Amino acid sequence: MSKVTLTIDDQEITAREGEKLLWVALENDIYIPHLCAIKELSRPAASCRLCFVEVEGISQPITSCTLPVKDGLKVKTRSKSVDRLVKTAFELLLSDHHLNCKECAAKEYCTLLKIAKERGVKLKRERFPALERNLPVDNSCENITFDRNKCVLCGQCVWVDRHEVKAGILNFSRRGLSRMVTTFQDMELAEFECNQCSRCVEVCPVGALTVK
Ligand code: FES
Repeated sequence: MSKVTLTIDDQEITAREGEKLLWVALENDIYIPHLCAIKELSRPAASCRLCFVEVEGISQPITSCTLPVKDGLKVKTRSKSVDRLVKTAFELLLSDHHLNCKECAAKEYCTLLKIAKERGVKLKRERFPALERNLPVDNSCENITFDRNKCVLCGQCVWVDRHEVKAGILNFSRRGLSRMVTTFQDMELAEFECNQCSRCVEVCPVGALTVK
């Protein structure tokens, strides 16, 4: 792959042509909020809508996880329209997220907290009504707690479960507002042959999968 030069927030950067902008930015210590991006995927789901950037010559903000870099690209990670889109996506995520952050096992590393701090967004529901999920918390495993109420549907656990660990325990289920990550017939994790490697916990950006 040939090398290209681009600028992100006026910083000149060399990258491999075709690499997705999100990863180029992160590798160069430029933070862009993201939840659903998986580096190995050539066609990312782009479902969280948090990674918007402004690109010179393109009229609308664009998701950086889907944008292949090319020579001469000029990118801004912040602008009025980028900030507005990211804030809306973030607020929609909060509308069905259990906001009991103080008691949450993930409070030291939660990506939602990181984004709120970085973008100066409140961890509060203001614009959108609460769509509280009251799904049972799965404590059946010796080491892992699975709280679907905190899941942000990023798909990171599904990816490692299928492609790294190859256990095939977790997957997406249902549609629309009922969409969730779950197991076959919503069975408890302990019903499956899970080797308790905790890779799903490592990649969960929030407190949906945590170590006990
Ligand atoms: Fe790009 Fe989720 S990381 S849309």
